[in-house]
Amino acid sequence: MIYTDKVMDHFRNPRNVGVIENADGVGEVGNAKCGDIMRVYLKIEDNMVKDAKFETFGCGSAIASSSMATELIIGKSLEEAWDLSNKAVAEALDGLPPVKMHCSVLAEEAIHKAINDYREKQGLGAWDFEETDHDALHDHVHGEE
Ligand code: FES
Repeated sequence: MIYTDKVMDHFRNPRNVGVIENADGVGEVGNAKCGDIMRVYLKIEDNMVKDAKFETFGCGSAIASSSMATELIIGKSLEEAWDLSNKAVAEALDGLPPVKMHCSVLAEEAIHKAINDYREKQGLGAWDFEETDHDALHDHVHGEE
C-alpha cells in the first residue's frame, strides 16, 4: 500500500495530539470490531474553533486524518468546521488509499459529534448528520483487502 509523504508525516509527527481540559465539545466515534477509537476535543469561543486536539487509537491513516483534520478546523467558524468533509481531509493529505478512506470518515464524524456536543450544551440543538455504520464499513473494507 502506498502512502503519500503527507500521510507519513502526519502519522509520524501528528499535530494536536492530546486532551483539552474542560473542552467545550467532545466527540467520540469508534468501531467495536477492530477497536479503532477516535476522540476529538474542541475549545470554542465566539463561534470559532480556538483549539482542537485528538486521541486516536487506530491505524496510521486514522492518526494522519485526525492530525490533518484538527489542523484544518483550528481558526475556522463552527459552520466551516462542520463542512469539513472526509474527502477534503484526504485531499489535504494528498490522498489516501481507497481501502483507507473510511479512516478519514472517522475524523469527519468525530468533529461532527464534538460540535453537536457543544451545541447541545449551549442549548442550540444538534445539527443533523448521518453516522456511518463503521462496523459495516470495516467488514466491507477488510473483505477487499
Ligand atoms: Fe479502522 Fe483505519 S480506522 S482501519
